Amino acid sequence: MKILGISAGTKNGSNDAVCKEALMGAKEMGADVEFIRVLDLDIKHCTGCIACVKALMTGKGNLCSLKDDFEWLLDKMLNADGIVIAAPIFEKGTAGIIRTITDRFGPRMDRGNNVISDKIATATDGKKPDTRILKDKVISFMGVGGSDWGTRIECDHAMLAMTPMWKVIDNVKFQWSKKIIVEDEKIELAHQIGKNLVEAANDMETASFRGTEGVCPHCHSRNFYLSNDSTHAVCCLCGIEGDIVIEYGRTKFIFPEEQISHTHNTLSGKFIHGNDIKRMERELIEIKKTDEYKNRVKKYSEFLIPIMPQK
Ligand SMILES: Cc1cc2nc3c(=O)[nH]c(=O)nc-3n(C[C@H](O)[C@H](O)[C@H](O)COP(=O)(O)O)c2cc1C
Repeated sequence: MKILGISAGTKNGSNDAVCKEALMGAKEMGADVEFIRVLDLDIKHCTGCIACVKALMTGKGNLCSLKDDFEWLLDKMLNADGIVIAAPIFEKGTAGIIRTITDRFGPRMDRGNNVISDKIATATDGKKPDTRILKDKVISFMGVGGSDWGTRIECDHAMLAMTPMWKVIDNVKFQWSKKIIVEDEKIELAHQIGKNLVEAANDMETASFRGTEGVCPHCHSRNFYLSNDSTHAVCCLCGIEGDIVIEYGRTKFIFPEEQISHTHNTLSGKFIHGNDIKRMERELIEIKKTDEYKNRVKKYSEFLIPIMPQK
Protein backbone atom coordinates (compact mmCIF):
# COMPACT_ATOMS: atom_id res chain seq x y z
CA MET A 1 0.00 0.00 0.00
CA LYS A 2 1.56 3.27 -1.14
CA ILE A 3 0.47 6.63 0.23
CA LEU A 4 1.91 9.79 -1.29
CA GLY A 5 1.90 13.08 0.61
CA ILE A 6 2.09 16.34 -1.32
CA SER A 7 2.65 19.69 0.35
CA ALA A 8 2.26 22.98 -1.48
CA GLY A 9 3.64 25.00 1.44
CA THR A 10 7.02 26.45 2.30
CA LYS A 11 9.89 24.25 3.53
CA ASN A 12 9.17 22.97 7.05
CA GLY A 13 6.07 25.17 7.31
CA SER A 14 2.53 24.35 8.41
CA ASN A 15 1.58 22.43 5.28
CA ASP A 16 4.68 20.25 5.36
CA ALA A 17 3.87 19.51 9.02
CA VAL A 18 0.21 18.49 8.56
CA CYS A 19 1.05 16.52 5.44
CA LYS A 20 3.81 14.63 7.26
CA GLU A 21 1.49 14.10 10.25
CA ALA A 22 -1.05 12.44 7.93
CA LEU A 23 1.77 10.33 6.49
CA MET A 24 2.75 9.31 10.04
CA GLY A 25 -0.85 8.15 10.53
CA ALA A 26 -0.72 6.25 7.25
CA LYS A 27 2.62 4.66 8.17
CA GLU A 28 1.17 3.57 11.50
CA MET A 29 -1.45 1.68 9.47
CA GLY A 30 1.29 -0.15 7.57
CA ALA A 31 1.53 1.99 4.44
CA ASP A 32 4.71 2.85 2.55
CA VAL A 33 4.85 6.62 2.51
CA GLU A 34 6.57 9.21 0.33
CA PHE A 35 6.57 12.99 0.55
CA ILE A 36 6.82 15.65 -2.17
CA ARG A 37 6.97 19.41 -1.76
CA VAL A 38 5.59 20.65 -5.08
CA LEU A 39 7.31 24.03 -4.86
CA ASP A 40 10.63 22.12 -5.21
CA LEU A 41 9.50 21.05 -8.67
CA ASP A 42 9.45 22.81 -12.03
CA ILE A 43 5.74 22.72 -12.94
CA LYS A 44 4.69 24.92 -15.84
CA HIS A 45 1.19 26.30 -16.40
CA CYS A 46 -1.10 24.54 -18.86
CA THR A 47 -1.04 26.61 -22.07
CA GLY A 48 -4.30 25.20 -23.43
CA CYS A 49 -2.61 23.79 -26.55
CA ILE A 50 -4.91 20.71 -26.37
CA ALA A 51 -2.14 18.40 -27.64
CA CYS A 52 -3.35 16.01 -24.92
CA VAL A 53 -6.91 15.90 -26.32
CA LYS A 54 -5.68 15.43 -29.88
CA ALA A 55 -3.40 12.56 -28.82
CA LEU A 56 -6.13 10.87 -26.75
CA MET A 57 -8.74 11.15 -29.50
CA THR A 58 -6.48 9.87 -32.27
CA GLY A 59 -5.16 6.81 -30.43
CA LYS A 60 -1.73 8.30 -29.70
CA GLY A 61 -1.81 7.79 -25.94
CA ASN A 62 -1.72 10.16 -23.01
CA LEU A 63 0.81 12.96 -23.34
CA CYS A 64 1.55 16.63 -22.68
CA SER A 65 3.58 19.00 -24.85
CA LEU A 66 5.22 20.67 -21.83
CA LYS A 67 8.59 19.39 -20.67
CA ASP A 68 9.05 19.79 -16.92
CA ASP A 69 8.74 17.82 -13.67
CA PHE A 70 5.00 17.22 -14.08
CA GLU A 71 5.52 13.83 -15.75
CA TRP A 72 7.58 12.70 -12.74
CA LEU A 73 4.93 14.00 -10.33
CA LEU A 74 2.14 12.32 -12.27
CA ASP A 75 4.04 9.02 -12.28
CA LYS A 76 4.36 9.24 -8.48
CA MET A 77 0.65 10.05 -8.15
CA LEU A 78 -0.38 7.21 -10.45
CA ASN A 79 1.81 4.76 -8.52
CA ALA A 80 0.17 5.63 -5.20
CA ASP A 81 -2.96 3.92 -3.88
CA GLY A 82 -3.83 7.03 -1.93
CA ILE A 83 -2.73 10.66 -1.96
CA VAL A 84 -2.94 13.33 0.72
CA ILE A 85 -2.50 16.94 -0.32
CA ALA A 86 -1.86 19.82 2.09
CA ALA A 87 -2.04 23.25 0.52
CA PRO A 88 -2.03 26.81 1.81
CA ILE A 89 -5.23 28.79 1.42
CA PHE A 90 -4.40 31.73 -0.84
CA GLU A 91 -7.08 34.34 -1.54
CA LYS A 92 -9.81 32.08 -0.12
CA GLY A 93 -8.99 29.18 -2.47
CA THR A 94 -6.11 26.81 -3.00
CA ALA A 95 -2.56 27.84 -3.84
CA GLY A 96 -1.87 28.57 -7.52
CA ILE A 97 0.44 25.56 -7.85
CA ILE A 98 -2.44 23.21 -6.98
CA ARG A 99 -4.70 24.99 -9.49
CA THR A 100 -1.94 24.52 -12.05
CA ILE A 101 -1.77 20.79 -11.30
CA THR A 102 -5.58 20.66 -11.64
CA ASP A 103 -5.30 22.36 -15.05
CA ARG A 104 -2.54 19.97 -16.11
CA PHE A 105 -4.88 17.09 -15.11
CA GLY A 106 -7.80 18.14 -17.26
CA PRO A 107 -8.63 17.14 -19.99
CA ARG A 108 -5.59 14.86 -20.06
CA MET A 109 -6.52 12.96 -16.89
CA ASP A 110 -10.27 13.09 -17.47
CA ARG A 111 -11.61 9.59 -16.84
CA GLY A 112 -14.15 9.89 -19.68
CA ASN A 113 -11.54 10.99 -22.22
CA ASN A 114 -9.26 8.13 -21.21
CA VAL A 115 -12.05 5.53 -21.45
CA ILE A 116 -12.83 6.77 -25.00
CA SER A 117 -9.13 6.95 -25.89
CA ASP A 118 -8.64 3.37 -24.74
CA LYS A 119 -11.42 2.26 -27.11
CA ILE A 120 -10.05 4.32 -30.02
CA ALA A 121 -6.54 2.88 -29.48
CA THR A 122 -7.93 -0.67 -29.41
CA ALA A 123 -9.91 -0.11 -32.62
CA THR A 124 -7.02 1.55 -34.48
CA ASP A 125 -4.18 -0.50 -33.04
CA GLY A 126 -2.86 2.73 -31.57
CA LYS A 127 -1.26 3.60 -28.24
CA LYS A 128 -3.46 3.08 -25.18
CA PRO A 129 -3.38 5.54 -22.27
CA ASP A 130 -1.44 4.41 -19.20
CA THR A 131 -3.62 1.75 -17.52
CA ARG A 132 -2.98 3.33 -14.11
CA ILE A 133 -5.10 6.34 -15.15
CA LEU A 134 -8.25 4.22 -15.19
CA LYS A 135 -7.57 2.71 -11.78
CA ASP A 136 -9.53 3.80 -8.72
CA LYS A 137 -7.70 5.93 -6.20
CA VAL A 138 -8.49 7.68 -2.92
CA ILE A 139 -7.40 11.18 -2.07
CA SER A 140 -7.70 13.57 0.89
CA PHE A 141 -7.12 17.29 1.15
CA MET A 142 -6.14 19.70 3.88
CA GLY A 143 -6.28 23.45 3.27
CA VAL A 144 -4.26 25.49 5.76
CA GLY A 145 -5.02 29.18 6.23
CA GLY A 146 -3.85 32.01 8.44
CA SER A 147 -7.25 33.70 8.74
CA ASP A 148 -10.98 33.07 8.26
CA TRP A 149 -10.82 33.53 4.48
CA GLY A 150 -11.41 30.13 2.90
CA THR A 151 -14.76 29.90 1.14
CA ARG A 152 -13.43 28.26 -2.04
CA ILE A 153 -10.80 25.90 -0.64
CA GLU A 154 -12.69 22.59 -0.38
CA CYS A 155 -14.30 23.18 -3.77
CA ASP A 156 -10.92 23.92 -5.42
CA HIS A 157 -9.46 20.78 -3.88
CA ALA A 158 -12.30 18.44 -4.78
CA MET A 159 -12.06 19.76 -8.36
CA LEU A 160 -8.60 18.18 -8.70
CA ALA A 161 -10.09 14.78 -7.82
CA MET A 162 -13.08 15.21 -10.09
CA THR A 163 -11.13 14.99 -13.36
CA PRO A 164 -9.74 11.45 -12.84
CA MET A 165 -12.76 10.49 -10.66
CA TRP A 166 -10.64 9.74 -7.62
CA LYS A 167 -12.65 9.28 -4.44
CA VAL A 168 -12.34 12.11 -1.92
CA ILE A 169 -12.15 10.70 1.63
CA ASP A 170 -11.44 13.79 3.75
CA ASN A 171 -11.51 17.41 2.64
CA VAL A 172 -10.84 19.80 5.51
CA LYS A 173 -9.81 23.40 5.98
CA PHE A 174 -7.82 24.62 8.96
CA GLN A 175 -8.48 28.34 9.50
CA TRP A 176 -6.48 30.69 11.76
CA SER A 177 -3.81 28.01 11.62
CA LYS A 178 -0.43 29.71 11.26
CA LYS A 179 0.61 27.94 14.49
CA ILE A 180 -1.06 24.63 13.61
CA ILE A 181 2.18 22.77 14.35
CA VAL A 182 1.49 23.24 18.11
CA GLU A 183 -2.30 22.87 17.94
CA ASP A 184 -2.82 19.30 19.07
CA GLU A 185 -6.46 18.90 18.07
CA LYS A 186 -5.74 19.88 14.47
CA ILE A 187 -2.59 17.78 14.37
CA GLU A 188 -4.59 14.79 15.63
CA LEU A 189 -7.13 15.34 12.86
CA ALA A 190 -4.31 15.38 10.27
CA HIS A 191 -3.02 12.10 11.76
CA GLN A 192 -6.51 10.60 11.58
CA ILE A 193 -6.87 11.75 7.97
CA GLY A 194 -3.78 9.69 7.11
CA LYS A 195 -5.26 6.66 8.86
CA ASN A 196 -8.64 7.15 7.15
CA LEU A 197 -6.91 7.24 3.80
CA VAL A 198 -5.22 3.87 4.33
CA GLU A 199 -8.49 2.35 5.49
CA ALA A 200 -10.21 3.70 2.37
CA ALA A 201 -7.41 2.50 0.07
CA ASN A 202 -7.71 -0.97 1.57
CA ASP A 203 -11.32 -1.15 0.42
CA MET A 204 -11.49 1.17 -2.57
CA GLU A 205 -14.90 -0.07 -3.70
CA THR A 206 -16.85 0.81 -0.57
CA ALA A 207 -14.65 3.74 0.46
CA SER A 208 -16.63 6.93 0.81
CA PHE A 209 -16.39 10.54 1.95
CA ARG A 210 -15.71 10.86 5.70
CA GLY A 211 -15.81 14.62 6.01
CA THR A 212 -18.64 16.86 7.14
CA GLU A 213 -21.79 16.81 5.04
CA GLY A 214 -21.96 19.64 2.49
CA VAL A 215 -25.00 21.37 0.97
CA CYS A 216 -24.88 19.45 -2.32
CA PRO A 217 -25.96 15.92 -1.36
CA HIS A 218 -24.13 14.52 -4.40
CA CYS A 219 -20.62 15.97 -4.02
CA HIS A 220 -20.69 17.70 -0.59
CA SER A 221 -19.88 21.11 -2.04
CA ARG A 222 -20.98 24.29 -0.30
CA ASN A 223 -20.28 26.46 -3.36
CA PHE A 224 -23.15 27.39 -5.69
CA TYR A 225 -23.74 29.70 -8.64
CA LEU A 226 -26.93 31.47 -7.66
CA SER A 227 -29.53 33.24 -9.74
CA ASN A 228 -30.80 36.61 -8.49
CA ASP A 229 -34.29 36.29 -9.96
CA SER A 230 -35.20 32.74 -8.89
CA THR A 231 -34.11 29.95 -6.55
CA HIS A 232 -32.18 28.30 -9.40
CA ALA A 233 -28.67 27.20 -8.41
CA VAL A 234 -25.80 25.29 -10.01
CA CYS A 235 -23.39 23.32 -7.84
CA CYS A 236 -19.97 24.83 -8.57
CA LEU A 237 -18.32 21.43 -8.16
CA CYS A 238 -20.40 18.66 -9.72
CA GLY A 239 -22.54 20.91 -11.95
CA ILE A 240 -25.98 19.71 -10.81
CA GLU A 241 -28.72 22.23 -11.61
CA GLY A 242 -31.51 22.60 -9.09
CA ASP A 243 -32.95 24.98 -6.53
CA ILE A 244 -31.83 26.29 -3.20
CA VAL A 245 -34.69 26.17 -0.70
CA ILE A 246 -34.98 26.78 3.01
CA GLU A 247 -36.44 23.84 4.93
CA TYR A 248 -36.83 23.87 8.71
CA GLY A 249 -34.40 26.79 8.89
CA ARG A 250 -31.73 24.95 6.86
CA THR A 251 -30.43 25.53 3.36
CA LYS A 252 -31.28 22.62 1.10
CA PHE A 253 -30.31 21.91 -2.51
CA ILE A 254 -33.01 20.04 -4.41
CA PHE A 255 -32.83 18.81 -8.01
CA PRO A 256 -34.55 16.43 -10.44
CA GLU A 257 -33.21 12.87 -10.26
CA GLU A 258 -32.13 12.89 -13.93
CA GLN A 259 -29.53 15.56 -13.08
CA ILE A 260 -27.36 12.84 -11.53
CA SER A 261 -26.49 11.45 -14.97
CA HIS A 262 -25.18 14.93 -15.94
CA THR A 263 -22.85 15.36 -12.98
CA HIS A 264 -19.23 16.09 -13.77
CA ASN A 265 -17.98 13.31 -11.51
CA THR A 266 -19.83 10.50 -13.30
CA LEU A 267 -18.80 8.81 -16.53
CA SER A 268 -22.21 9.61 -18.08
CA GLY A 269 -21.79 13.29 -17.22
CA LYS A 270 -18.26 13.29 -18.59
CA PHE A 271 -19.46 11.76 -21.87
CA ILE A 272 -22.21 14.41 -22.19
CA HIS A 273 -19.64 17.16 -21.60
CA GLY A 274 -17.18 15.47 -24.00
CA ASN A 275 -19.81 15.31 -26.76
CA ASP A 276 -20.73 18.97 -26.27
CA ILE A 277 -17.06 19.91 -26.63
CA LYS A 278 -16.61 17.69 -29.68
CA ARG A 279 -19.55 19.45 -31.38
CA MET A 280 -18.06 22.85 -30.57
CA GLU A 281 -14.59 21.84 -31.81
CA ARG A 282 -16.09 20.61 -35.10
CA GLU A 283 -17.88 23.94 -35.58
CA LEU A 284 -14.60 25.72 -34.87
CA ILE A 285 -12.75 23.68 -37.50
CA GLU A 286 -15.32 24.78 -40.12
CA ILE A 287 -15.39 28.41 -38.98
CA LYS A 288 -11.58 28.59 -39.09
CA LYS A 289 -11.70 27.90 -42.85
CA THR A 290 -13.78 31.02 -43.52
CA ASP A 291 -12.35 34.36 -44.68
CA GLU A 292 -14.28 36.14 -41.94
CA TYR A 293 -12.49 34.16 -39.26
CA LYS A 294 -9.09 34.58 -40.94
CA ASN A 295 -9.61 38.34 -41.33
CA ARG A 296 -10.51 38.74 -37.69
CA VAL A 297 -7.44 36.78 -36.56
CA LYS A 298 -5.35 39.05 -38.82
CA LYS A 299 -6.99 42.18 -37.35
CA TYR A 300 -6.11 41.21 -33.77
CA SER A 301 -2.65 39.87 -34.53
CA GLU A 302 -1.73 43.08 -36.34
CA PHE A 303 -3.06 45.35 -33.59
CA LEU A 304 -0.35 45.51 -30.89
CA ILE A 305 2.23 42.88 -30.12
CA PRO A 306 2.76 41.77 -26.50
CA ILE A 307 5.42 43.73 -24.66
CA MET A 308 8.11 41.89 -22.70
CA PRO A 309 10.71 42.88 -20.10
CA GLN A 310 14.11 43.74 -21.64
CA LYS A 311 16.63 41.00 -20.75
C1 LIG B 1 -0.50 35.36 -1.02
C2 LIG B 1 -1.13 34.84 0.23
C3 LIG B 1 -2.49 34.77 0.33
C4 LIG B 1 -3.09 34.26 1.47
N1 LIG B 1 -4.45 34.17 1.51
C5 LIG B 1 -5.03 33.60 2.57
C6 LIG B 1 -6.44 33.45 2.61
O1 LIG B 1 -7.17 33.88 1.73
N2 LIG B 1 -6.99 32.81 3.69
C7 LIG B 1 -6.23 32.34 4.72
O2 LIG B 1 -6.80 31.77 5.65
N3 LIG B 1 -4.88 32.47 4.71
C8 LIG B 1 -4.27 33.09 3.68
N4 LIG B 1 -2.90 33.19 3.63
C9 LIG B 1 -2.09 32.58 4.69
C10 LIG B 1 -1.53 31.22 4.22
O3 LIG B 1 -2.55 30.30 4.03
C11 LIG B 1 -0.50 30.70 5.19
O4 LIG B 1 0.53 31.62 5.20
C12 LIG B 1 0.00 29.33 4.76
O5 LIG B 1 -0.94 28.35 5.04
C13 LIG B 1 1.31 28.99 5.46
O6 LIG B 1 1.71 27.76 4.97
P1 LIG B 1 3.19 27.19 5.11
O7 LIG B 1 3.62 27.48 6.53
O8 LIG B 1 3.06 25.74 4.87
O9 LIG B 1 4.03 27.85 4.07
C14 LIG B 1 -2.30 33.78 2.53
C15 LIG B 1 -0.90 33.88 2.44
C16 LIG B 1 -0.32 34.41 1.31
C17 LIG B 1 1.18 34.48 1.23
